[in-house]
Amino acid sequence: MKAPDGNKLAILNALNQGGFVSGQALGEKLGISRAAVSKHIKTLQEMGLDIFKVTGKGYCLNSQVGLLNKTQIDQHYKALGANTADVEVHPIIDSTNSELMRRIQAKTALESGTVIVAEMQQAGRGRRGRVWQSPFGANLYYSYFWRLDDGLQAAMGVSIAVGIAVYDAIKALYQIDVELKWPNDIYINKQKLAGVLVELDGQPQGPCQLVIGIGINLQMPESFSQHIDQAWTDLNQHTQKLDKNHLVASLTYHLEQRLVQYRQTGLQDMYEQWNSLNAFAGDYVELNTGHRSWRGICEGIDPQGGIRIRQDGEVKSYYGGEVSLRKAQV
Ligand code: BTN
Repeated sequence: MKAPDGNKLAILNALNQGGFVSGQALGEKLGISRAAVSKHIKTLQEMGLDIFKVTGKGYCLNSQVGLLNKTQIDQHYKALGANTADVEVHPIIDSTNSELMRRIQAKTALESGTVIVAEMQQAGRGRRGRVWQSPFGANLYYSYFWRLDDGLQAAMGVSIAVGIAVYDAIKALYQIDVELKWPNDIYINKQKLAGVLVELDGQPQGPCQLVIGIGINLQMPESFSQHIDQAWTDLNQHTQKLDKNHLVASLTYHLEQRLVQYRQTGLQDMYEQWNSLNAFAGDYVELNTGHRSWRGICEGIDPQGGIRIRQDGEVKSYYGGEVSLRKAQV
């Protein structure tokens, strides 16, 4: 997929004002032919933008796209009582996580707390090597860089704290109670809303660097949803108040609060809250590590962040793998 050049962004901005704009008007504005306009529109549609055409009226963007804007993110962030956030906005990138990982590997100076957000990812990554669908302007693609001095072992529970931070941000903005699936999926009514990909670089005992990647479905286009192989939802189905810049600010604020708490006391004061948000509490589930699988009743997490599964009357904690819902045993 090609990056949107200046002409495509100008067409998008014109359509984003609302209403119909004719191919001729767009062509005159940009100094290009109607055929060239039509080609740019086709590419924008392939990138996930829901643009339609009505003969005699022109092109129209089905619903306006709230684009990322650093000034607005900063304003919302400051309104929460925080200092300026270190946020970089990219129209298009391969993956916000990959960009931060590259900078870590290249030993580029990076402040703990640096955030990268993008309108579109050309190679969005999910957990376990899966693709994360990342159409233009439709969803939130967010990565946060964090340095932790206590070694890799201490970083093991971070995913749990991040899940709670996503809960906090969505609750604060939209009064929606999301649910959490171990280790770090965010659900509404057993449909996936968001995912977290935490990547680590560091020493077992020394300082380590974390890239906390968060993808939240906001307004997933129909054409991209066909590639998602599980039940999903997006925030647009649950609230009318979507503002991506406000969400970036709220997410950064709550993430910082939870990471400070995590640094001070680990999951000690968070694991019970996580258990109250457990999407699969008391359900019959399967834990799959890639090599082996275990089935049993999901009993929530322990204070270290491991998932507790009851099998044959005995409860055991596990620290790796993925949980999925299974039909009850008969
Ligand atoms: C999952 O549930 O599999 C995790 C999905 C994580 C997606 C986010 S989007 C921003 C960041 N960049 C990526 O390439 N992935 C994460």
